[in-house]
Amino acid sequence: MTGASGGLGLAFVEMLLSEGVAVWGTARSPERLQVLSARPGFTPLVLELNDPESVERAFLAAPGDTGHGFDLVVNNAGYGVFGAFAAAPFSTWREQLQANLIGTAHVAHAAMRRMRAKNRGCLVNVSSMAVEYPLPFMSAYNIAKSGLAALSESLVFESRGSAVTVIDFRPGDYRTAFNQAMQVTSSAVDPATDPRLPAAWRSLEANLALAPKPERAAADLRRALLADRSGTVYSGGIVQTRLAPLFARLAPARLRRAVAARYFGAA
Ligand SMILES: NC(=O)c1ccc[n+]([C@@H]2O[C@H](COP(=O)([O-])OP(=O)(O)OC[C@H]3O[C@@H](n4cnc5c(N)ncnc54)[C@H](OP(=O)(O)O)[C@@H]3O)[C@@H](O)[C@H]2O)c1
Repeated sequence: MTGASGGLGLAFVEMLLSEGVAVWGTARSPERLQVLSARPGFTPLVLELNDPESVERAFLAAPGDTGHGFDLVVNNAGYGVFGAFAAAPFSTWREQLQANLIGTAHVAHAAMRRMRAKNRGCLVNVSSMAVEYPLPFMSAYNIAKSGLAALSESLVFESRGSAVTVIDFRPGDYRTAFNQAMQVTSSAVDPATDPRLPAAWRSLEANLALAPKPERAAADLRRALLADRSGTVYSGGIVQTRLAPLFARLAPARLRRAVAARYFGAA
């Protein structure tokens, strides 16, 4: 479980431990996993998505260090950057893509190498409803999640006929520390950059404040794992899991964009 120290990852860990599953969970520093470390069945690992060596090292900690890897890998760690695309240095966007897209693709690669070799296992890539409804002023995050969803779709195809399953787990809004961990670019707090920035930020805060608790995502993940099928799994309230994806598929793009802009307070 990458990103086990809080939010969705922590709820996923709690759910798996309560089912008697042994869990290896990651954070960027061991202190963030101190409480979990006391729990029977939990092993803490350090993983930084921007550090390829730490990704490979984490997989060597699998049971028995036989190189056979974990039976289930939940590729959950990630963070956001908020700000207008052209108003921040490109290095900001490069770093976000490096972590959220290249880093998560690396985790998927390390997992799939082992799962393909033993023809067994389940990879869960945590993307986002941002694939269908890009978040305002979060272009790099939107690219990273769309890219991760495209990777999942490719792996679903490649795994057909094998005993490896690949799930694109696509959460709607959940009440986590995601916004507190968000990197806000300096230009984003200057309303002269774009007058819609403050309203867009307020809507992101309001949406998470009203969102369900992460335990709901854990229940959705549990159901998806028990179903043992590759594919896309939406998680959240009925509007976000049923209506929003249907609307994204059926509505004309102009209408979808207008509704999304109003929803995000950026109309
Ligand atoms: N909350 C939502 O509404 C929502 C909706 C859709 C998708 N998601 C996705 O769900 C996943 C979990 O998000 P969350 O809401 O639970 O956020 P969160 O509470 O901020 O947790 C993020 C987790 O990712 C880890 N992490 C962050 N940056 C990392 C990096 N560079 N390298 C390694 N680990 C890193 C953090 O570990 P540290 O202890 O090291 O900081 C933490 O455990 C993310 O991929 C997010 O994009 C969230």
